[in-house]
Amino acid sequence: MHEQLSLGSPTRFLSVLDFDPLTLEACLDLAASLKAARAAGRRHVRPLEGRHVALLFEKPSLRTRSTFQIAVHELGGDVVEPPADVVLGGRESVADVARNLERWVYGAVIRTFAQARLEEFADAAPSLRVVNALTDEEHPCQALADCLTLIDTWGGLRGRTIAFVGDGNNVAASLAQAAAMLGATVRVASPVGFELPHPVRESVGAVARFGGGVVVTNDPIEGVFGADAVYTDVWASMGQESEADARRHAFAPFQVNARLMAHAAPEALFMHCLPAHRGDEVTDEVIDSPVSVVFDQAENRLHTQKALLAILAGE
Ligand code: CP
Ligand code: NVA
Repeated sequence: MHEQLSLGSPTRFLSVLDFDPLTLEACLDLAASLKAARAAGRRHVRPLEGRHVALLFEKPSLRTRSTFQIAVHELGGDVVEPPADVVLGGRESVADVARNLERWVYGAVIRTFAQARLEEFADAAPSLRVVNALTDEEHPCQALADCLTLIDTWGGLRGRTIAFVGDGNNVAASLAQAAAMLGATVRVASPVGFELPHPVRESVGAVARFGGGVVVTNDPIEGVFGADAVYTDVWASMGQESEADARRHAFAPFQVNARLMAHAAPEALFMHCLPAHRGDEVTDEVIDSPVSVVFDQAENRLHTQKALLAILAGE
């Protein structure tokens, strides 16, 4: 259904970096064909027939949880959702949770805090398909949907510039890695002290193709100048709620409003992973404007995660 995967068959997606560029492209191609099949009501592959996938979420979720539930179901499988108080919460070790689940389920989709915790889980259960549904450091499933949204609109990312305005966070990191692999330049504009971490910048440099890459600035206007898309996210991520007031002051000049959008290319897209804090990082005027693709991004979570699960199942 898609081209030969150069990694053999990847069995985990803890990071965009777990996919090489060909695998990333194959996943996005498959997502586009699954999206078309779903719209036309056509049958498609059901690689999870007779298999269970555990959803382990230590943070709230609307989009990721719902779309994984639907994705597993549409691929023929069933989800199990252990209650929050037994997920990875200290009742037993992370490794023991993983070793138990490995005896019952085919895969695990995990939203947690430290990336290291996710890696500990995956290392303890090597036969499980493990997917990162967001950590403090990365949100690779979001990046898949973001890239499909841009491909749907532009045909491809090569030579494009995407401005990410705000916190150099998990969403920015995964977006920069994926978009640069596909040939885009991602400019991340953040207040001093909230820049994209150096190791992430280096990882982007290592995987960038076709002249793409990442550029970091502390000037929001320089960040969006002439950009083909402007992306933002909340100023305080899940787990950082106690910092929200202090951050609001630092991030105020980075609000994506009509004045800032005017510095981007004409017809530049507006993107947000959602949930949005309207009036903080983005104004209603921008998020509700015709250039906003935020609900296309949300829709594409479903199609890209179906493709991801199919690829991890060796389809
Ligand atoms: N964008 C995203 O991951 O949304 P949820 O937190 O609702 O899953
Ligand atoms: N950066 C945000 C993304 C939510 C989808 C967070 O981690 O809370």
